[in-house]
Amino acid sequence: MKRATVTGWGKCVPPAVLSNFDLEQVMDTTDEWIHTRSGIKERRVCHVETSDMAAVAGQHAIAAAGLDPEDIDMLLVATCTPDRLIPSAAAMVQAKIGAHNAGTLDINAACTGFLYGMGIATGMIAGGLATRVLVIGAEKLSAFLNLRERTTAVLFGDGAGAVVLEASDDPEEGVLGMELGSDGRLTQLLTVTHTGTEYPPEAPPYEERTIWMEGREIFRNAVVKMAEAASNVLEQVGLTLEDVDLLVPHQANIRIIDATAKRMGLSPEQVYVNIASYGNTSAGTIPIALTEALEEGRVNPGDLIVFVAFGGGLTWGGAAVRWGRRTKPVNASDAALPPNEKTGLQLLAARPRT
Ligand SMILES: CC(C)(COP(=O)(O)OP(=O)(O)OC[C@H]1O[C@@H](n2cnc3c(N)ncnc32)[C@H](O)[C@@H]1OP(=O)(O)O)[C@@H](O)C(=O)NCCC(=O)NCCS
Repeated sequence: MKRATVTGWGKCVPPAVLSNFDLEQVMDTTDEWIHTRSGIKERRVCHVETSDMAAVAGQHAIAAAGLDPEDIDMLLVATCTPDRLIPSAAAMVQAKIGAHNAGTLDINAACTGFLYGMGIATGMIAGGLATRVLVIGAEKLSAFLNLRERTTAVLFGDGAGAVVLEASDDPEEGVLGMELGSDGRLTQLLTVTHTGTEYPPEAPPYEERTIWMEGREIFRNAVVKMAEAASNVLEQVGLTLEDVDLLVPHQANIRIIDATAKRMGLSPEQVYVNIASYGNTSAGTIPIALTEALEEGRVNPGDLIVFVAFGGGLTWGGAAVRWGRRTKPVNASDAALPPNEKTGLQLLAARPRT
């Protein structure tokens, strides 16, 4: 059976920054509240669309793997904020990057979407259905922020990350095991209201739309499920928490990350955190964090990396990955978003719904 191994990685974070101090100007909040409750200092706001960020991140990942876009035979985009319902963001990315030999599919498992994408890619590679899969996590959550809902508007941001997973015969490296879970009885804990087929056409557009959640319940479930997923996946592959070199968790809240790491018995040095700069970019957080961990030299050849995530659904997941020999990109890409002159606040204000 073929192993799926990560050979390329990349990210795209849009240039416009929205700081906590910016948010103080448009809602009843403070930098102190946001930072102490979540660990977030600022986030990015995208001036173009989800598929544009996804395409840039994907091109970096393909170059890092030393491949051309035509080498990709499956292109998966994990997102709950696609540009449109049809076509998929993945098909849009395919056209933008010229990955013409790929099948395309979007995955919506909210913030766990990237790990679901890795799981689908790993299964397709193991089953012989694909050999080079581009998995992208990309979100433009700023489109759904409601500035009257301060409990959620301060937590989310925009961004994309990507990996290339390739078939390998080396049993020592790649995705060793995964656990993906969901409890649909908890759908009401985290939702984006006034979207989809149940949203009646006569209802007032936009003003009521919001990301809504029961923060404390999510928090409690997140810590339990992520720690459980990590230990289950390690047990599945005959390893223990002591074997873990680096935990790359979904970046939703620093307190959730700290509590999960504590439950797993990991030290802060074993956990990668970048939430202060980007907030929660949903399916984007893990591939962005992995890319930055590599850029900062936090990943070494042969390391055991554990990924954990949770999100709306509720969904959760864990993956154990043995890193290969290469921690530097083969090639660099000059892919970038089009220029932007606006500030984060100006972009938020320009949305029709604010
Ligand atoms: C949302 C979250 C940060 C709130 O932290 P908390 O400690 O649970 O805070 P509470 O909800 O108890 O709110 C405390 C107070 O702060 C207020 N508050 C809420 N948002 C605020 C904001 N942006 N600025 C200032 N005050 C705020 C509340 O109104 C409440 O006031 P009250 O005590 O007068 O009623 C936290 O619950 C959390 O991160 N949960 C997980 C959310 C998550 O990760 N979701 C994504 C899943 S992928």
